[in-house]
Amino acid sequence: MTGPESEGSQVRRAVCPGSFDPITNGHLDIIARASRLYDEVYVAVMINKSKKGLFGIEERIELIRQVTAEYANVRVEAFHGLLVDFCKQREIPAIVKGLRAVSDFDYELQMAQMNNGLTGVETLFVPTNPTYSFLSSSLVKEVAAWGGDVSHLVPAEVLEALNKRLAKG
Ligand code: PNS
Repeated sequence: MTGPESEGSQVRRAVCPGSFDPITNGHLDIIARASRLYDEVYVAVMINKSKKGLFGIEERIELIRQVTAEYANVRVEAFHGLLVDFCKQREIPAIVKGLRAVSDFDYELQMAQMNNGLTGVETLFVPTNPTYSFLSSSLVKEVAAWGGDVSHLVPAEVLEALNKRLAKG
C-alpha cells in the first residue's frame, strides 16, 4: 500500500537506552513520557562487560519490567555493541533521551550526531522533570550505601532491591 494510508498505519517506535544500574524515577519519567508519544518503546539496557554494576543485567531488566508493567507498549531488552545496530535490527528510527542540565548536553549532542551520522537514526531530547534534575543512578547508590533516604528517588521495587543488595555488602 502506498500514500498517506500506509504511512498512517506504520508503527512508531523509539528506544530509551541506558545502563539503568538501577532504574530511577528520573528514567521512569522519561520512559513514561516516551510511551505516550510512541506506539512502541524499547528500553535498551546496555551490557558493559568491562564495568561491573551493583545489579546484573537480568536483575536490572527484571526491575525495569516490574516498574514499567503499567505501560503496555514498553518492552525491555538487553543490548551489546552499538545502539544504532539495536535500532536497525528493530526498525527503530528514534532515540529518546532525558536532558537533566546543560552539563549533559555536550556529550549527548556528540552521541546524537555520531549516531545520526552512522545510520540516520534521530535523537529526541526530553527535558527532565526538574524534580529529578540532580538525579543519577550513581548518586542514588552512593547515598543509599551510606544509609541516606532515597525512597523518593526510586520506585519501591528498586528501593527494596537496593536495601537487600547493600545489606549483603
Ligand atoms: O545510562 P548511561 O550509562 O548514561 O547510558 C549510556 C548509553 C548506553 C546510552 C551509551 O553509552 C550508548 O549508547 N552505548 C552503546 C554503545 C554505542 O552505541 N556507542 C556509541 C555512542 S555514539
